[in-house]
This record gives sequence, structure tokens and C-alpha cells, in this order.
Amino acid sequence: MRNILAAPAWPYANGPRHIGHVSGFGLPCDMFSRYQRMAGNRVLMVSGTDEHGTPIQVQADAEGVTARELADRYNRVIAEDLTSLGMTYDLFTRTTTRNHYAVVQEMFTTLLKNGYIFPKTTLGAISPSTGRTLPDRYIEGTCPICGYDGARGDQCDNCGNQLDPADLINPRSRINGETPVFVEAEHYFLDLPAFAQILGEWLQSKAGSWRPNVLKFSLNLLDDLQPRAITRDLDWGVPVPLDGWRDRPDKRIYVWFDAVIGYLSASVEWARRSGDPDAWRAWWNAPDAEAYYFMGKDNIVFHAEIWPAMLLGYDGQGSKGGSPGPLGTLNLPTEVVSSEYLTMEGKKFSSSRSVVIYVRDFLSRYDVDALRYYVAIAGPENQDTDFTWSEFVRRNNDELVATWGNLVNRAVSFAARNIGSIPSAGSLTGFDQSMLERSRAAFAAVGGHLESSRFKFAISEAMRTVAEANKYFSEQAPWKLRESDPERMATVLHVALQLVDDAKTLLTPFLPRSSEQVYEMLGGAGVWSGMPHIEEVDEEGAPSYPVITGSYQGAARWESSPIRPGTPLAVPKPLFTKLGPEVVDSELARLGQTS
Ligand code: MF3
Ligand code: ZN
Repeated sequence: MRNILAAPAWPYANGPRHIGHVSGFGLPCDMFSRYQRMAGNRVLMVSGTDEHGTPIQVQADAEGVTARELADRYNRVIAEDLTSLGMTYDLFTRTTTRNHYAVVQEMFTTLLKNGYIFPKTTLGAISPSTGRTLPDRYIEGTCPICGYDGARGDQCDNCGNQLDPADLINPRSRINGETPVFVEAEHYFLDLPAFAQILGEWLQSKAGSWRPNVLKFSLNLLDDLQPRAITRDLDWGVPVPLDGWRDRPDKRIYVWFDAVIGYLSASVEWARRSGDPDAWRAWWNAPDAEAYYFMGKDNIVFHAEIWPAMLLGYDGQGSKGGSPGPLGTLNLPTEVVSSEYLTMEGKKFSSSRSVVIYVRDFLSRYDVDALRYYVAIAGPENQDTDFTWSEFVRRNNDELVATWGNLVNRAVSFAARNIGSIPSAGSLTGFDQSMLERSRAAFAAVGGHLESSRFKFAISEAMRTVAEANKYFSEQAPWKLRESDPERMATVLHVALQLVDDAKTLLTPFLPRSSEQVYEMLGGAGVWSGMPHIEEVDEEGAPSYPVITGSYQGAARWESSPIRPGTPLAVPKPLFTKLGPEVVDSELARLGQTS
């Protein structure tokens, strides 16, 4: 039994989630976690809303509310979006908790003590017209490294390098186009060059296990490691835990420094809420525990470079030595699993330009498993990928409905009508046996793909067993045996139902809702694969907030389990809904209408 931390990126609490937000990493992380639990491992899946920094402040200004009000509003909305997707977080919390502040400040303090954080006077950008600090992300200009003209003040999306706004050639404000002025300010920096060697060795050791493009991108980042400012001139964020800084309203810890610590603080919060305050250590301090981080590619730098550097510095393992703080020696990521981008009908998702479909709107019209199926089989796993409504309808109808839904429906209906229960098998032919063996063998194949986050391969392999089972049912044609050979008919139905049962297990990580239904259809009792729910919690004396949590110890195991003859069967309701061609037209009209 392995301890596995499943860590999906923290969504900004600046709006409801759209399917672009959840397709690349959120849902895949849930598929991975569900599989690992079924395989018998101890999974801790934690995340929350990312609520500090300029992305929140800028949206709050746009909506005319405070950052705190905005974060409160969207923390709740996002928790609902993610719950309705069936995301099995052990804890989905937020970055504005006291617990989070305390863990962030503890990391800052130990990194400083170990010599990996130092103060320095730098040039900060100010908007000349408003006099306010201009956040890095809201400055753009030409990248001094690759010459790309759309580089942002914090990062160049073309070459992936971390930047400082003062380095940009021809800097300009993305808010109003004016040229920022740079004034001196004191800030704290994370000494990334002190980790160059150890990060390099660590990344090299990942050759062959990480997705090649993620590893290559991460290694490239090491070519230009600069100290990185981890405080900001901003009033919304975690206070800097130093005398003379703590009470200053205009200095806060940089949002990315606090956000990545969320994985750790959420684990600590989960342990506390579960009644065993040290339980988180089995995922963070135990040397053989594993940690898988899931995110979009614009987050690689923070998960494969900055967060590992922070952990190494906390552990005292950079070039300056040092010793671990009170949280103990903290584990590095086992794998940084990064996806590419999803676009929508050929365009970048954009809430402001209405190139968007929000999770709650999607789920009000379509089945959650139809979305999960599409994401698994056609998501942006290895390359930028376009979501189109016609492809969604085609895959739903031709694959989900016509293959899997149809198999379940005809096998269970036929057995219910003609026998009324799961029949026992008479003597099996060699072909029957080989069908059952192939189905059992699929567990290793699909599991192997899921183990290495190859979701497309995994679901394709599972669906291949479904296609074979369909073929078996058609060829064996039990309806022709009704009069002539009822015993053979019973055997064929037994085999077909076993194949259905195996397929529902193989599909559970991807399609938990419909797999639960098939489990019940075939007489399963209790919960098969758990679902998340929202609970209202608080920290003593502070306002309450919603968290996603759940008990995911269902009956689901990653293995073929023999169906039980004699179990009563009823004619099932269809598992999925076939979509008419008008769906494409109406969805495209919705996009067009509002743009
Ligand atoms: N909020 C960030 C984004 O949407 C992701 C933060 S991941 C974390 O890009 F690890 F830093 F929390
Ligand atoms: Zn560049």
C-alpha cells in the first residue's frame, strides 16, 4: 500500500470555472486518484481556491467589491462547480485560512533561517496616472531573452522564462497602455541559483517517467535561474512574518509563494479535521510517499522549479545547507503532470469575450460522465486541443451511448426479460474463456496507463474491451438460442454480464456516476465509488467557509470480481442520453449570440 498525494492546481477565486479550467488537470487528477484508491493505495487529494494576489484584486476592482468579498463569493461557487464534477478531494479548502497563513509564514521563516531568502532593494513599477503599484502580470513588453513581444512582467509565455518587469523592453501597462515608472522598494528574494545543482540532478532522475515535454521545459528553466522576488507591494496577501514588515499594510507575500504552500497547509488542515493532527506526515515526511501534481503548462515553472526549490530550502538541501524546520523533511514532487491548453471552437477560452462554457451551465444541459468521457479521451493531455460541440456530440452518441450504454442496455435488458436474474454459466467454450481472460487482463493494461497518467490510452483500452463485449453479444446472438438452446443462452448471458461488470470497474475512474448505476443494476449493495460533498466548517472564532470532502472508501476494487448468479435483474433505464444535431447549433448560437 502506497501513500500518494494527489495535488491538482488551485483555481483562482476570480470567477466560476469553465471547462477549459477543469479539463487539463482537474478531472485527470480525479481519475488518477480514483484509480489509485481502487488499487488499494492511500490517496490524499487536496487543493483549494487560490485567493490572493493581483488576479483577485483586479477582478475585485472590476466588480466593485473588496478582494475578500470576491474571494468569498467565488470560493463557494468553485466548490460547487468542482463537487458537481465528482472531484474526490479529501479536502478542498482555500488560501485565506489562518492555518494556511501559519504554514506559509513558517516556511518563510525557516527558508530565511536557512539562508535561502534575502532582502534586496529593487525597482517596482507604479502606474503614473493612479500612483498605484502595477502588478507584474499587468505589465507587458518585449522579452529580453527571446524577443517575444507579448511577454508579461512575471513570465514570458513564449520561452517560459521568469522575468522581472524592469527587464522588459518597452514595458507598458496592460490595463491602460501607459508606460510604468519604476521606483525603489525593498523586497525579499528566494535564492533560486542556490538550488541549480540539486534541481538539475533531481530533474535528470525523472527522465523516462515524466512526460517528455514537461521534463524538457523544466530542464530548460534551469539555464537561467535568477533570485525571485517573493514579496509584493500590495495589501492583499499573507503578511511578511518579520518585525517592521508584519504590520505594514502595503507589503505582502507574493501570491505564488503562498499558493504552492497550499498543498502542504491543506494536508495539515485535513489531518486536523480528521482528528489525527499528525496524519499529514505520512504523505510529506515519509521518504517513500509519492506526490503527483497536476496542472496546466503555464504552471510548470511554479511546480517543477520554485516549489521544489522552496521544499529543498526548507529541508536544508540547497548549496547553503541548513536544517529542516518544525514541519520536518518535506518530500519533493514525484511527478509534475502538466497538460496543454484546451481551446473552444478554435479560440482561446475567454470569459470577457464569452468564448466559454461554464461547468454549471454544461452540467445543467449534459451528463457529467459525458464531459468526463470527452476529457479523458479527447482532452489536452499531450498537445493543445480544441473542444468542439460537434465532436462532443459525436463522441457522446457514437462512443458513450452506442457502445457502452448500448452494451449495458441490451445485455441487462435481455437477461432481465428472459431470465429475470443473473444466470449461472454452463460449460464455457474456449472462446468464452478467452473473452473472460482478455477482460481480466485489461486491468493491468488500463491500470498501467493510469499509473503513468496516460488517460487517453487508459480509456481507449477500457473502451476496447467494451467493443469486444458488444461484438461477442452480437455474434453469440442469445436471442437465437431462446428456443433451441436455453442453456447455452444462459451461459452467453452470464459471460456477457461478467464482461459488463468488468467494464464498469475499468471505467469507474473516468465515469463514476454511470459505473455506480451499473453496479446497482447488477445487484451491488452500498456505495461503489464515493462522491464528494460540501461541508461548512470554521476555524475557532472566524467566519465559516465551505470545504469539499468525502469518504471515498466504496466497494470499488481494481480487479474483476465474479458476478453472483441468482441476483435479480430489472430492465434498466438508459445510462446516457443521445444528443440530437440541434445541440451543436444551439450551443454555437449561444457562443455567437453573446460574443
Ligand atoms: N491559481 C493558479 C492558476 O490558476 C494555480 C495555482 S496552483 C498552486 O494558474 F499550486 F500554486 F496553488
Ligand atoms: Zn521569452
